[in-house]
Amino acid sequence: MQSLKTKVAIIGAGPSGLLLGQLLAKQGIDNIIIERVSADYVASRIRAGILEQGTVDLLEEAGVSERMHAEGHVHTGFEIAHFGKRYRIDLDKYTGGKSVMCYGQTEITQDLMAARSEKALVTYYESSNVVLNDAKTDNPFVTFEQDGQQYKLECDYIAGCDGFHGVSRQTIPKEQRTEFERVYPFGWLGVLSDTPPVHDELIYAKHERGFALASMRSPTRSRYYIQVPTTEKVENWSDDAFWDELKKRLPGEVAERLVTGPSIEKSIAPLRSFVCEPMQYGRLYLVGDAAHIVPPTGAKGLNLAASDVGLLYKLLCKCYQQNQPQAMQSYSELALKRVWQTERFSWWMSNMLHDYRDDKTSATDGLTFERFMNAELEFYMSRDDGLRIIAEQYVGLPHPLV
Ligand code: APR
Ligand code: PHB
Repeated sequence: MQSLKTKVAIIGAGPSGLLLGQLLAKQGIDNIIIERVSADYVASRIRAGILEQGTVDLLEEAGVSERMHAEGHVHTGFEIAHFGKRYRIDLDKYTGGKSVMCYGQTEITQDLMAARSEKALVTYYESSNVVLNDAKTDNPFVTFEQDGQQYKLECDYIAGCDGFHGVSRQTIPKEQRTEFERVYPFGWLGVLSDTPPVHDELIYAKHERGFALASMRSPTRSRYYIQVPTTEKVENWSDDAFWDELKKRLPGEVAERLVTGPSIEKSIAPLRSFVCEPMQYGRLYLVGDAAHIVPPTGAKGLNLAASDVGLLYKLLCKCYQQNQPQAMQSYSELALKRVWQTERFSWWMSNMLHDYRDDKTSATDGLTFERFMNAELEFYMSRDDGLRIIAEQYVGLPHPLV
């Protein structure tokens, strides 16, 4: 058994683990990351691409914002199309000058990985049998295997950044956590293609055939999604079938401009709202997807993970730099306040924009729910206050104050 020691053991090298590791390292707080899959696999995962200002600020603080500022695009608004009628949410106007940054999560992950290897910070990729031990004591440790070698990593704190399917949340005994969940009765079929985006801002479209989203990664790379039944299989969707359906759901004059091409990625993602309470257990802290999932409709997954990271980072700085370890106790309570606000927004946007008519899972029948939500959308779109409420949440609610 090989023995290792660090201050913060980070489980998972997704955006949460990598960003936390980078921020801590900049402050001289030692950390080691343990990751289940290979570095290549981590670097190539395709995910969303809209960053709140608070996320951009954290990437700057971590010293990994150079390429984002050079290659990313600032968006000062986005559109919601309701049965063909287009509304622009002017983020700049309604939030007093705030905006979002369009820059792919894949790029952020690569930037964080490059910064980590530049500083020669330790990451164990392709680790197996990762076990979190004695989290309730003052001497927690993590055991794992790599290349047939057994490791024991002693630490002060464990950051569980290992996503929805990781071990960290499962380490909290079942009777000491509560899990809240809503699974939606549809999924998103997504296509990535090297074609110019159909519009220079995102368009979220509610259509009687179902929801569609026109997004992008760069001036030459587009990302599109359409709502599909949960039973749908990706093999059933040729590129042509996808483009045809997307065109039908986008407003006419937008659809006419759509440039199609071969897909470079095509997949179906289920939609889920999920929260685990509390987000800490002894010296274990859950961060990002390990603690919560949002449906992608509000572009909040990565941003919510980043606000957890920012909070845990600030508390760890207080602990190590100002000798205030008791500050760590407030993590779960502070994080959960923002988590539930963001869960609410993502759920609400999902409800308003999707077609629920076939839904047989809710108390309200699908057809009635659909009518409620159409009225809700019209109500918010028809007044400045409504647009402002959406804009304020889309650019991101304030991060918890420490
Ligand atoms: N041991 C070590 N690592 C693990 C284990 C384990 N047992 N289980 C999972 N992991 C790793 C995964 O391989 C993955 O690289 O933890 C990482 C978790 O990364 P994400 O799932 O991306 O979670 P997070 O970093 O919190 O992501 C934040 O970005 O794209 C969004 O959906 C994503 O919204 C989420 C956000
Ligand atoms: C994306 O570009 O992948 C994307 C953008 C906005 C969303 C969800 C996904 O709300």
